[in-house]
Amino acid sequence: MAGDKKKKILLVAMAYYLFLVVSAASSSLKVGKEEEADRIIELPGQPKVSFQQYSGYITVDKEFGRALFYWLTEAVHQPESKPLTIWFNGGPGCSSVAFGASEEIGPFNIKENGTGLNLNKFSWNTVANLLFLESPVGVGFSYTNTTDDLESGDERTAKEALEFIHRWLDRFPRYKQRDIYLTGESYAGHFVPQLAKEIMTYNSNTKFPINLKGIMVGNAAMDYYYDNIGTIDYWWSHAMISDETRTKMLNKCDFSQQYNFSKECESIGNIANNEMGNINYYNIYVPKCDKSYRIGATRRNLLSLHQPFSIFRRLSGYDPCREQYAEIYYNRPDVQQALHANTTKIPYNWTPCSKGRLSWVEEAFSILPIYKEMIAGGLKIWVFSGDADSVVPVTATKYSLAQLNLTTKMPWYPWYVDNQVAGWTQVYEGLTFATVRGAGHEVPIVKPKQALELFKSFLSGTPLPKL
Ligand SMILES: *[C@@H]1O[C@H](CO)[C@@H](O)[C@H](O)[C@H]1NC(C)=O
Ligand SMILES: *[C@@H]1O[C@H](CO)[C@@H](O)[C@H](O)[C@H]1NC(C)=O
Ligand SMILES: *[C@@H]1O[C@H](CO)[C@@H](O)[C@H](O)[C@H]1NC(C)=O
Ligand SMILES: *[C@@H]1O[C@H](CO)[C@@H](O)[C@H](O)[C@H]1NC(C)=O
Repeated sequence: MAGDKKKKILLVAMAYYLFLVVSAASSSLKVGKEEEADRIIELPGQPKVSFQQYSGYITVDKEFGRALFYWLTEAVHQPESKPLTIWFNGGPGCSSVAFGASEEIGPFNIKENGTGLNLNKFSWNTVANLLFLESPVGVGFSYTNTTDDLESGDERTAKEALEFIHRWLDRFPRYKQRDIYLTGESYAGHFVPQLAKEIMTYNSNTKFPINLKGIMVGNAAMDYYYDNIGTIDYWWSHAMISDETRTKMLNKCDFSQQYNFSKECESIGNIANNEMGNINYYNIYVPKCDKSYRIGATRRNLLSLHQPFSIFRRLSGYDPCREQYAEIYYNRPDVQQALHANTTKIPYNWTPCSKGRLSWVEEAFSILPIYKEMIAGGLKIWVFSGDADSVVPVTATKYSLAQLNLTTKMPWYPWYVDNQVAGWTQVYEGLTFATVRGAGHEVPIVKPKQALELFKSFLSGTPLPKL
């Protein structure tokens, strides 16, 4: 009897203890539960990998039902000791899932015809945790529940991206103390510095700062005036247009007014376009894709999304065949299910760029003032350029950067990968500039090893390797 009673007490005590353990465990799990719901088990046609992946939606505006889609591919080794790198593509309106993740720096490339995935051994997730954000709303899987709420601009994009980071870190609290880097290319030359500025402003007023350490942008839009002059000089110096056309363009086009071209300027722009011919503007030394798949919507217009006179800014993404494989792959229902994407049944197909869906109502003329603020704020800043791009060419970037009047720390020198010149670099006080020789608008596509080397040097804050 006594024994039974003891047993009973013991059982009650054990049950209570178990209750405590279970409830403690479940409350500590509660933090991770949301992120667990975002875990990707496996993507269709995916090779076996050792790293973890998560994807899903973060609401950035409850009232209007605006949500951004992200895809996190964690670092291959010791992700807990690696920084978080957020990647943005440009456009505006192009998807980081389509470009950054699937053909540039992500762990997978898409197989021909979207039948599966290949491993990218030069993926940047060999050294960092990578988060691809489809920004703004209206791009890729990111949506709004309020029809007609697809008006966007630089400012709204930056504010919603900041909101995304707050909400995402709430969902992934283990990343809260982690070093964060913002990276991207092309029109992300606006998104990245503008978000960095939002973060710096937020940090100046809080006890819980976002641990932003630096930014890196490639073939980045910086300054409307100097980018355009630099673009014309690139076309001319690379024998894409005639001397006469260059001179006329410089005389007839007034780039001090954004997207406001005289008739004369428009007609000389058309002549320039004809002189260049039907080449791959995004890398003038590689062929264009000549396959054409048609998936639902009409094929994306190569020319830009919103500019009245498109020749001066073709920022709407790259047009190799890979992009079409992405379009097939990400429209597969099994892929969308594995990615936790399109849960609200978005009424149009997933496309690499959002074409005419977004209306871009506000755009900064120059990002250079933000560079000054970022330098003053002590951020690590790297700017790189694939030197075969004619869309945001190396001369555009150089003319723009020159306006910052930076002091040189290490003069221009060639940097090397495998005993070959990978490009050239100059280190300034507060900013490192580097070119990648032979790379186009999307640098890692044809120079994946060099691009990874660049990213490693950026992370470690060391100048690019000399011979
Ligand atoms: C891809 O699709 C095209 C057109 O349907 C076909 O000709 C080609 O053989 C396919 N390639 C592969 C690798 O399946
Ligand atoms: C465009 O340029 C013309 C001529 O310089 C000027 O009269 C007009 O006000 C400008 N329009 C806008 C919207 O800036
Ligand atoms: C979302 O799903 C619907 C129906 O399931 C499909 O018709 C649509 O193309 C998809 N949209 C996107 C953006 O994935
Ligand atoms: C850079 O220097 C030039 C000439 O030294 C000067 O005119 C210009 O205002 C400076 N620009 C900035 C942004 O400080």
